[in-house]
Formats: sequence, structure tokens, C-alpha cells
Amino acid sequence: MFWDNSMPLAPRPPEKRETDKTMSKKVTLNYEGQSHEFDVRVGSEGETGFDISQLRSRTGLVTLDSGYGNTGSCESAITYIDGEKGVLRYRGIPIEQFAQSPNFIEVAWLLIFGKLPTTEEYAEFVVDLRRHANLDEGMKHHFEGFPRHAHPMAILSAMINALSCFYPEVMDVDSPESFRNASARLISKVRTIAAYAFRHSQGQPYNYPDPRLTYVPNFMHMMFSQPYVQYECDDTVRTALNLLLILHADHEQNCSTSTVRMVGSSQANLFASCSAGVSALWGPLHGGANVAVLQMLENIHKGNLTPEEYVKLAKDKESGVRLMGFGHRVYKNFDPRANILSEQAGKLFAAMDRKDPLLDVARKLEQIALEDPYFVERNLYPNVDFYSGIILRALGIPTDMFTVMFAIGRMPGWIAHWWEQNQTPGSRISRPRQIYTGNQLSNYVPMDQR
Ligand code: ACO
Repeated sequence: MFWDNSMPLAPRPPEKRETDKTMSKKVTLNYEGQSHEFDVRVGSEGETGFDISQLRSRTGLVTLDSGYGNTGSCESAITYIDGEKGVLRYRGIPIEQFAQSPNFIEVAWLLIFGKLPTTEEYAEFVVDLRRHANLDEGMKHHFEGFPRHAHPMAILSAMINALSCFYPEVMDVDSPESFRNASARLISKVRTIAAYAFRHSQGQPYNYPDPRLTYVPNFMHMMFSQPYVQYECDDTVRTALNLLLILHADHEQNCSTSTVRMVGSSQANLFASCSAGVSALWGPLHGGANVAVLQMLENIHKGNLTPEEYVKLAKDKESGVRLMGFGHRVYKNFDPRANILSEQAGKLFAAMDRKDPLLDVARKLEQIALEDPYFVERNLYPNVDFYSGIILRALGIPTDMFTVMFAIGRMPGWIAHWWEQNQTPGSRISRPRQIYTGNQLSNYVPMDQR
């Protein structure tokens, strides 16, 4: 047992308290001749919102905020984003500081447990991940039931959910020990499931995890080793993939993380909640955008359209086409992850002494868009997905697996958020309201009279 009850957990989120700042500020709502005051809450970086938890009971009103662009769903101490300035920090540490010698496992610990691990904590975590890398033999049979062409995101989501069948102790959602074990299992096994999904699609035998290898080389071994040829993961690949996973590790209340929190709010277990997160991530407006970007670049490269023609199409609302990998709900400036990946792409191709024409297409598209008033006026910049696909392609990861790679990276973030919510005093089931616009009272008509 490498994890015991003496090991740290992330600090509990603070109880709702009246600070000097919150006490001094109020928002007043005037409605139908009555005035209602609501407390203003200020975060540790000055983000400000007003607390409407009493709105309906005091006024009879609900808020309407399609897409939640103005809604703070929780208070969280995990990740800070300043979308106007292009800032991203994990537990207060700027994302750029992880790029020097990227170590995904260290960042996973940081996100989940709230502080950087000591040497001893890190070593114990690594041993634990190694211990949990393998899948129950019973799980392997499930892969056989999926058709060869099954999308690996569907397999990933199904198999993560299936983990709860093999480790029923995860149902004890309030136990720190169960949580610690479930987290290590999930971070470790997600890459085994991902690699097995790929091997199944290729009709190739599964490679057991190799306990001598660290996280990323072990994943690459499970993906690419052949019965008589061991895949050798060099430093360039290890570094690039560690960096890529770190840059995807958390992004506060995005669609998939909010899904994990939403599902977890019903006290569904960690595996079930993260399986839902995988499904939310799959869509092309979220994690699936990395696939859409590559398809767009390939289309342009094949000569179907020039970069100029594509940008023109993306500006035309009638076309239904968007410049994939551009724009973000929160960033109204450069996405700092895109900056790091853009630089990494250059470094990677130099280290590999290779070229990829898709990188040239991407750079051209970026240049055109950043000079175009349509994109400038709407603050549309490259997001994390714009360069990630090019890097994954260079590492030999097939396009179908891109969003799976995103999910492997995002797992520590989902886990951290699930636990933070679970530990928040007064946490309630997530249950938004609506403004009903359907039929008014109508009568049932028997089928033979319709
Ligand atoms: N190409 C062309 N126009 C765009 C793009 C784009 N990529 N993104 C936004 N716009 C336009 C919209 O048409 C809209 O124009 P309008 O004001 O004239 O109507 C305006 O910019 C605002 O766009 P919204 O869709 O309202 O922005 P929202 O915050 O809802 O969406 C999103 C953000 C989904 C990321 C959007 O920018 C998009 O679809 N981008 C392409 C897909 C993509 O790259 N997704 C990955 C996001 S990062 C991630 O999930 C990891």
C-alpha cells in the first residue's frame, strides 16, 4: 500500500465567508418596485461575481444565460485563467513554468493534491501508477466486443465506466482512501485503455504495460511495440508528449470538466463522472477540435482550397465553416497553450530533422487570420488545438486518437474538480432552471381521435 491516510489531500475549499471585500460591496436589483441586495464575492485574483443563490426565493426570478458565459458555477482553487491577458496557472503556477522540463505526473499530483509533491511523495505516486497500469484480464474481453472501426473515444468512455464494475469500492464517494486509489487507477489505466483501443482497431495484440518504463514511454510502448520489436521512446518524444499532456491537464470550468462536476454532484462515482467527461470532450467544439483542425489542414494541403479561400469561407456565416483551432470562450487574447505548442512544433521538427507541410499551412492560416479585421475585431486567436494535432502527428499518433490524447491529459483536472466539489461544504446537486416556452395547458387526445 503506497497511499495511506497520512498522504495529503488538496486543501478543502473555504467555507463561504464574508471577507472585508465582499461585505463592502453589494449589487442592487430593482424589480417591480422592490429593491433587492446581493452580496458580491471577490476571488483571490480579483475576479468578481454576485451571489444569486437566494435570487429565486427572494424575487421569484431566475437568470437566463444560454451557454453559461456569465455564470460562475462554483468557487474553485485549482486553475486560474485570465482570458483577457492570456494567463493560465495551475494552483497558482504559470503554465509556462512547466515547459522547461515537463513532467506530467508531477503536474497531475499538483492539481489533485494542491501542492507540488516532495521527492518521496512523487516516488510513491510513480510506484502506485506502475502498480495500477494493468487492466483486469476480464476487461480485455470487452475490447473484443467492439467493432474494429469503433471510435476510440466511445471505447474510452465505455471502459472508464466499466472500471466501476471491477473496483466497486469506488462507490464510497466520501472516502479519501478510496478516492486516492481511484485517482491513481484512473490516471494509470486511462493510457492502457487508450492504447488497447488503438491496438484493437489495428487488429494487433495488446502489449502489457512494462513496469520498467515511465508514464509516457510506457504508453508509447503499449501503442507501438510489436511482438519482436520493442518501441524505443527517445527524449524528444517523451518531452513533447509530457508537455502536451500538461497543457491539457486542466482548464477550469470548461464543457467536459463542468460535465464531470455535474455528474459528480449527484454523488456518482469518480469513474462514472470521468466517463461522462470523455463524452463531453468528444465534440468538435471542444476536444474534438484537434481532429477537425488536422482535417482542415489536410484539405487545404491537398489543394481543395487555398488558406485565403478557407479564411474567406470561415468568415461567411452562411457557409457553416469555422476556422478550426481558432477562438475560445474565455481567451480573448492568445491562448498561452497555443503559444507554447507553436514553439514546441518548431523545436520538435528541428530535433527530428523533419518537415511537415501541414505546419506551413497552419502558420499561413494563422498569419492571414491574425491580420484580418473579422478575427481581430472578435478577438479570435489560435487555441490549444491549433498546433496540438501537428505535434501528435509528428509523434506518430493517428488522427482518430487525438481526442483520446486530450482525455489522457485532462484526467488529473477532472479528478481534481470531482474531489474539490465532493469536499466543498454545502455542495448541492447541480440542477439549473429554465424558462419554459412550450404549450400551455392542453388535453390528451386518444390515438383514434387524432
Ligand atoms: N471561425 C470563424 N468565426 C468564429 C470562430 C471561428 N473559429 N469562432 C468564433 N467565431 C465568430 C462567431 O461566428 C461569432 O461571430 P458573430 O459575433 O458575428 O456572431 C463570434 O466569433 C463569437 O463566437 P461564438 O461562437 O459566440 O463564441 P463561443 O465562445 O460561443 O465559442 C468556440 C467558442 C466554440 C471555441 C468557437 O470559437 C469555435 O467554434 N471555434 C472553433 C472550434 C474550436 O477550435 N474549438 C476548440 C476550443 S478550445 C477547447 O475546447 C480545448
